[in-house]
Amino acid sequence: MSEENTFDLIIIGSGPGGYVAAIRGAQLGLKTALIEKEKHLGGTCLNVGCIPSKALLHSTEMYHFAGHGADAHGIDLTNLSINIEKLMAKKSKTVDQLRAGVQHLMRANKIKVFNGLGMLAGGSKVRIKEKNDETVLTGKHIIIATGSSSIELPFLQFDGEIVVSSDQAIAFNTVPEKLAVVGAGAIGLELGSVWARLGSKVEVIEFLPNIAPTFDKDVSKMAERLFKKQGLNFHLKTKVTGLKKEKGKNILTAEKDGKEIVFEADKVLVAVGRKPYTDRLGLETAGIETDDKGRIPVDKYFKTSADGIYAIGDVIPGPMLAHKAEEEGVACVERIAGQAGHVNYDVIPNVIYTEPEIASVGMTEATAKEAGIEFKSGKFNFAGNGRAIATDATDGFVKVTACAKTDRIIGVQVIAKSASELISAAVTHMEYGGSAEDLGRTIHAHPTLSEAMKEAGLAVGGNAIHST
Ligand code: NAI
Repeated sequence: MSEENTFDLIIIGSGPGGYVAAIRGAQLGLKTALIEKEKHLGGTCLNVGCIPSKALLHSTEMYHFAGHGADAHGIDLTNLSINIEKLMAKKSKTVDQLRAGVQHLMRANKIKVFNGLGMLAGGSKVRIKEKNDETVLTGKHIIIATGSSSIELPFLQFDGEIVVSSDQAIAFNTVPEKLAVVGAGAIGLELGSVWARLGSKVEVIEFLPNIAPTFDKDVSKMAERLFKKQGLNFHLKTKVTGLKKEKGKNILTAEKDGKEIVFEADKVLVAVGRKPYTDRLGLETAGIETDDKGRIPVDKYFKTSADGIYAIGDVIPGPMLAHKAEEEGVACVERIAGQAGHVNYDVIPNVIYTEPEIASVGMTEATAKEAGIEFKSGKFNFAGNGRAIATDATDGFVKVTACAKTDRIIGVQVIAKSASELISAAVTHMEYGGSAEDLGRTIHAHPTLSEAMKEAGLAVGGNAIHST
């Protein structure tokens, strides 16, 4: 094996987990290789996930404001129109800029990037296949960071045209007149919002009794009410059963309370979760078995059952979130380099970037109850926040849940404009074991939306100032 193809660390997959792990490896002096099968680095998040969807959400939020909110400010925008081609070009520009940024980071950190399909080839070897070429690398340590792909429903298979995943729903070139969305989780709500703002009639079909079902029930209920006003129609406790063609129209069939209901749809976005991606990875060659959900089991240092092979991100158990993958990448590499990296799984924020946004960290009241933890909660509505009133952001609240005995914060839920940014104050307090009183006694600039976080902290002890 040539010196050139021998590495301390080989990472398969260049999403936020993989490329961040590569940078940390290089920082710690490891000779690092990164393998990517797609044309661009950055994985799902940068190319077809978090980033393009946030660009679309931003553009369409402005369009929605122009059509529905500007007038109240005395801004006259009659003859408003939207150019989808330009909107998509703006999204692509954002993605291109970040792709270039990741490339630059690889070069600057002297990480050797290989384009091709990386496959475990036994022991410390990784084979890279690109068209007819094959390269074999040897690595002291190998990290699998191959991510996930959309789950397909057996009776609703993706065809990329009518039945689509988020990969296509971030790139429709015309606004579908009728869009059916299966699943009211992060992807369903975000992309449902995007197309509803652009004029689609959106029907969201969800199996469970609440939208955003992993969030606090009060949050889900308020979100449902607010999103309904924005034109999203929800069909809860409803099970999709199939798709048929009738007189040239696509008819999605579903079942609610034992009765069949039907939806005519130009496009059907299936957003019912994602599954680990391990196709053609050579797990069998390496002797690694997956669990019942197709995930790669690892120990607390991200070691798989094969010596020298580790796994991080969506391909292992835990929430499928870019920031979780990044932290695991860093911790895994630090352990490899003999440092004490770790991930605090109790404080991983989770966000849905709708308007208002939904964000949470730690436990909900329901999960605390299940765990048998005695808790107390404090809630503060943005209707009592000066900045919210001045900026049309009064929809929403912060709920802080703390241990009844110690006052230590165990969970925070936010539904509000910029909830994704507000939640970080709660994350920081929780990371340091902060109490609800600590949060309530922390000085926040006035007037800011973040004062609602402080007030909710105070409300846990019944001491909120601007509420009765
Ligand atoms: P999800 O797990 O967030 O939501 C899927 C929803 O589909 C759930 O509410 C589930 O009850 C429902 N469902 C499942 N089977 C169904 C069926 N047959 N009929 C009707 N409803 C059904 O999954 P989603 O939205 O596809 O996202 C995939 C992953 O990507 C998640 O782990 C999510 O956290 C992550 N993601 C995160 C984002 C963010 O952080 N903002 C944005 C997009 C995705």
